[in-house]
Amino acid sequence: MNAKTDFHTLRVSEVRRETPDAVSILFDVPDPTSPLLAYAPGQYLTLRRQIAGEDVRRNYSVCVSPLDGELRVAVKQVGGGRFSTFANHELKAGDLLDVLPAAGHFTAAFEAGEARNYAAFAAGAGITPILSLIRTALRQEPHSVFTLFYGNRTSGNILFQEELAALKNQFMGRLAVYHFLTLEDEDIDLFNGRLDRAKCDAVLSTLIDPAAIDMAFICGPEGMMEAAEQALLAKGVAPSRILLERFASSGAGPLLDDAAQVRVAAAAGRSMKVVLDGRRMTVAFDAQAGNILDSVRATGAAAPYACKGGVCATCRAKVIEGEVEMRVNYGLTSEEVAQGYVLTCQSAPVGDGVVLSYDA
Ligand code: FES
Repeated sequence: MNAKTDFHTLRVSEVRRETPDAVSILFDVPDPTSPLLAYAPGQYLTLRRQIAGEDVRRNYSVCVSPLDGELRVAVKQVGGGRFSTFANHELKAGDLLDVLPAAGHFTAAFEAGEARNYAAFAAGAGITPILSLIRTALRQEPHSVFTLFYGNRTSGNILFQEELAALKNQFMGRLAVYHFLTLEDEDIDLFNGRLDRAKCDAVLSTLIDPAAIDMAFICGPEGMMEAAEQALLAKGVAPSRILLERFASSGAGPLLDDAAQVRVAAAAGRSMKVVLDGRRMTVAFDAQAGNILDSVRATGAAAPYACKGGVCATCRAKVIEGEVEMRVNYGLTSEEVAQGYVLTCQSAPVGDGVVLSYDA
């Protein structure tokens, strides 16, 4: 058994419609000491379900706080998304879903004695992990304040609008929420349009003092995240104070450039020793599969994965011997990389003699 990579089968106790295109899913976790409730605010769960005969896995951020003692994620429907369509249209209370314990680095250690100034930039479903952080920060640090800049298309699309309004009332003067809408016009022009670089610059010049920001959280579509990050950096906010959460696109990850294709082809057939669940096996690198994870799974071994996009780190393994090349890495910290961990869904052996362990 591996506590981090073994799925738990949980009963869904509620599927709540949040907006026309998003639901939240509450899980029944009868044991209050379950590792599933030991998440950090801002982390995500990997959900697994057989849909039309296929094993479909997706990551969804927890939208509640560990202080709530419950486990709830939000799922926004995306065009053609198998899991999100299933969750929005078929899933109901009483159904079973397979769930991995929470993971992810988009979190902060909140401490009661601190008086900090937090800022967050979110768009669409990007509010989900940020709502978890807001709920936790305001309760755990009674002297801290939080400012949220939140972009959506219309007011009807605003996920967790009522929760945010209730939190503003509950924590009077400690939570400021600014909404930005692309398809509805406000009297104040600043609040019309998307959170692009110009808008983020304007926000940081008028609505918050960047020098006072202790930590900034960013989650949403790639363009918005880049705009917010660059605007914060340009205003002098240190990179160590900026945290980004990327949602994995499902599936194959980035395309290989020509040089990487040549390297992967050159790795074909290289023999690797792989340790998984206490077993040691010999695996030949499968250039067709293009990565170590799929080469291992092709042998029938249940190597763990979720996103296959270099984001979730579920496929993490430690290189014990030899050299491995990793294509993209959004999921491991620099410390983990320095310790020899790689994302096997993004990796290929550089030479012979690679030994790696999923158990380390
Ligand atoms: S499966 Fe998500 S990073 Fe590899």
